[in-house]
Formats: sequence, structure tokens, C-alpha cells
Amino acid sequence: MSSEAGEWWRSAVIYQVYLRSFADGNGDGVGDIAGLRSRLGYVRDLGVDAIWINPWYPSPMADAGYDVIDQRDIDPAYGTLAEAEALIAEAHDHGLRVILDVVPNHTSELRAWFQEALVGGPGSRARDRYHFRNGRGEHGELPPNNWTSEFGGLAWTRVTEPDGEPGQWYLHLFSPQQPDLNWDHPDVRADFEHTLRFWFDRGVDGFRIDVAHYLIKDDLLPDLQQARYASGEHPHWDREALHDIYRSWRRIADSYDPPRVFVAEAWVESPQRLVRYVRSDELHTAFNFDFLASPWLPGAMKDMIDATLDAHASVAAPSTWVLSNHDVARHVSRYARPQREGIERFLDDFLDRPADLAVGTRRARAAILQMLALPGCAYVYMGEELGLPEVEDLADDVLLDPMFQRSGMISRGRDGCRVPLPWSGHSAPFGFSPGPVRTWLPQPDDWGIYSVARQTDDASSMLELYRTALRMRRLLPALGDGCLQWLSMPEGALGFAREPGFLCVVNYSAAPVVLPDDAVILLASDEFDPGAGVPADTTVWLDVGGPPGR
Ligand code: GLC
Repeated sequence: MSSEAGEWWRSAVIYQVYLRSFADGNGDGVGDIAGLRSRLGYVRDLGVDAIWINPWYPSPMADAGYDVIDQRDIDPAYGTLAEAEALIAEAHDHGLRVILDVVPNHTSELRAWFQEALVGGPGSRARDRYHFRNGRGEHGELPPNNWTSEFGGLAWTRVTEPDGEPGQWYLHLFSPQQPDLNWDHPDVRADFEHTLRFWFDRGVDGFRIDVAHYLIKDDLLPDLQQARYASGEHPHWDREALHDIYRSWRRIADSYDPPRVFVAEAWVESPQRLVRYVRSDELHTAFNFDFLASPWLPGAMKDMIDATLDAHASVAAPSTWVLSNHDVARHVSRYARPQREGIERFLDDFLDRPADLAVGTRRARAAILQMLALPGCAYVYMGEELGLPEVEDLADDVLLDPMFQRSGMISRGRDGCRVPLPWSGHSAPFGFSPGPVRTWLPQPDDWGIYSVARQTDDASSMLELYRTALRMRRLLPALGDGCLQWLSMPEGALGFAREPGFLCVVNYSAAPVVLPDDAVILLASDEFDPGAGVPADTTVWLDVGGPPGR
């Protein structure tokens, strides 16, 4: 790895802990800090460098914790601030860095600021911290503009004023329980700077920034047009003024020793727009969602990898690679479908096609070896190391994601990738909770086959593949930060070289790929006969004579 020790984030593999679903310590069916603390050894042994923990702050959970009441405290369902501090220290003792989620676009409707704004009434200073506006129409009965919520429906909700009359409207680009903050207000900026320092002072190594591209809105809140906007001109998306915020956050992160880091969640239109967030005086990294949304097709994959690497090289930032997270359908299930060009990430996008989970699993094994060989840092979403599929048949009455209700119960939402992990045993809760209890989302009856206990020491399991690959990635000097050279390959396959002495070959097609004579197989995503060539949906790591590993 070419990165200096101080720039650990350029090569890191970061494990996403969706806390509600990772491990339950107190037996109430909801994952918590105690559960995570008890499983830190598992995370360390997996071979990752850091954990990213989804929001654990006090929240009424209208959007699974992305509706935050107080970003400087812990929700009682997850534990206490003292437990959080202990977790941070213990993770460090295990050699794991800790990244938290910061949610700057909106708060919970139950945050004191928003309650003050409701009580304060029109024109009150408290309303300035959010986006309150009078409605249109004769009696203000129409929303101030035509913006819609990410979860479906209007992006505006009308409030009842203190006098009991219908009054102003407030903006929420997500659910009505998540009012958008006004980032032109100095209190908002100061409050988030306080939050960053609060956690940095407690040893936290960095933040993942929730919807980092949304914070700034055009003051005039104009109607959205049908026509495409020029880059940076959209009224609430990827606007120029965001970058000043992130420059100021970078200064805060750099004032710590060692410097703290950021990763942006920014779903923007192109890699060129994305890398504007990771210029040298802004954020360190940004999730590369083009990779996650890319179909398992070699042409699309290669174009996307090239575009990503070129764009990141232009600002000297490392690329990130991610296959799954808590917002998209698990990739085993995405890859289990016949693949088609274009972007697909939600369960709804591919329910029209039958799943072959054996194919999806085989591709997922090939995909992780491809991902871990690419230059830059990588994210692993908890449970993907177990090969978990999306749970596609959750009953309507257990779905909690606001996407489901707000879409008029049309979208299945994101609950299917958030089902609690199976750790051991043959029946629910599969060791997730210490005793028999209903988990917050039900686990499928057959999930024992995916459990950690079942897969441990089974050399053919997904878990052991992840462990081996992550261990090797640490040892191979060619992997992590750096660059790649494409190899000339038969149609349907991709191959690239990394210096020193490493090749990665991925066969997406049915035609076997012959390996170079001098290559030694380091690791393959599935067993095969080298004489017969690399079979379909298989990735191979090859040693072609680099210096000995570190
Ligand atoms: C991000 C989160 C997602 C959440 C949304 C609103 O996209 O990853 O889970 O619903 O922001 O905060």
C-alpha cells in the first residue's frame, strides 16, 4: 500500500454496523451498543480497519434513527453515552477505528428547536432555523412549491398554529418527521461544529455525512422545472455553497491529532460532480454509488471503474467501493436476477425478474474479490460477509421504512436489507438476542444456514472467503491505494494489474478464461480446475512475481 500510515483512510476497509440489526445485548430484540461491544472481536477477526455505526442518537425512529433529537447523546434503546465511550475505547484497543453518522440536512420533529418553532408561530426567530413559508392559494392552502419528498408525497407539511388555525408550511425532503434545517442560519452551523468536536473529543475517528449534497437550498425555493438543470443549478441538490461548509468541517478535522476524516453520502449526477466533495481542502472520501448500482456486466463495470478512477485522480483523492448498504437491496439478490443495463438499487427495481440465489451468491463472491482488488478504500455492509440475501417477503404489517407508507404501500422500501444478523443456532433469533424474543424485524426461518457459527471454519463459506481476502489484502503490497493497468482480455472478462506483481481476473461470461502460464493463484472466489480456465462468475487473484509480502 502506498499510503502513509497517517492516511489510513486511503486504503481502509470499513465495516458498516447497522446497530439495530447487528447484535442485541439486552434481549429486547433490537441491536445495541452492548451487543456491538460483545462482538468487536468478530469484527476485528474479519480483518477490517474501521467500523461505521449508523445513527445511535435519541430518535423517535420515524426513519430508523435518521430523525435525530440530539446528536450529542445516545438513544436509550441503544445504551448510554458512557457505553458509547467505552465502545470507542474498546474498538481502538482492537485496532479498529470508529466512524459515526452525522445527519445535517434535517432533525427530528421532536428536536427542541422544531418544537420551539411550532410554538413560536409565524415570524418567530425559532422558525428561521428551518424552512417555514406561507402557502400559496387564497388561504395559503397550497404548498409553497412543487417539491416532493424522497420518500414520496409532498415535501411540505402544513402546521396548526398556536391559535389552532391552519398556518404555515415547513419543508421536509424526507419524511414529515424530518424537517429540513436552514443552513443559512448561524445557529445551525455552530451546532454541527459543536457536534463534530463533541465526538472528536471522545476519540471518534471520523464521520459519514448523511445526504451531504442536500443541505443548501435556493433561497427563493422556486418550483422544480421539468427540464434538466445545469450542474450546480438544481434548487436543492449539489449546490455550490455546500463546499464552504465542508471546508470549514475539514479545518476542524485537521485541528485534531491524528486528523479526523469524513466520507460523504452524495448521490450526485456524475463522478466529476462527486469528486468536487473530495478536493484537498474538503472531505476525504465519498461513497462511489455508481459501483453499487452497476449491473454485473463487464462493459458497464469497466466504464464505471475507469470514470471513477479518472475523476478521483484529478483531485488526488482515493476512490471508495461499496456493494451494499442499509438503503439498497442486498447485492446477492440484485445479482441473482438476469442483469440489464442501467441503475438498479431498490428491491422494487427488480422484483419483476425471478431470482436465482445460487447465481447471485456466486457473483457476490466474485464481486467482493473484484472490489477488494480495486485501488482505494472499501466498505462492507454487515451481513454481506455471510452472503445474506435481501428478505423480499416481509409482510406488510412488519414494514417500518417510511418509503412503504409514503409510497401508498407500493414501494417495498428498505427493510429487507435491515433484518437482524444470524449468529448461531437453528431458529430465530439465531443468537442475535441472548434469549427467545421477537426481533424488531423478523428473520426468515431458514437463516440458520447463514449464521456466523455455521460458516466459521467452513472453507467454502462466504464468511471464510471474506476473512481470507481481507487478510490477504493487508499483506499484499499491491492492494489498497494506488492505480491499476487494464489487461487485454477476451470478451466477457476483465483483468487488471496492480504493482508489484498482482493480477485480478474476473470472468463474467460462460466462456472459460485461460490464465497466464507464469501466474500463481493466490485466491479464487470459487474452486476451479486451472487447466480448464476461470469459469463463469469467478474472480481470481494472481501472483505474477512481485517482491515478498510485508
Ligand atoms: C440517507 C440515509 C437514509 C435516510 C436518509 C434520510 O440516505 O442513508 O437511510 O433515510 O438519508 O436521512
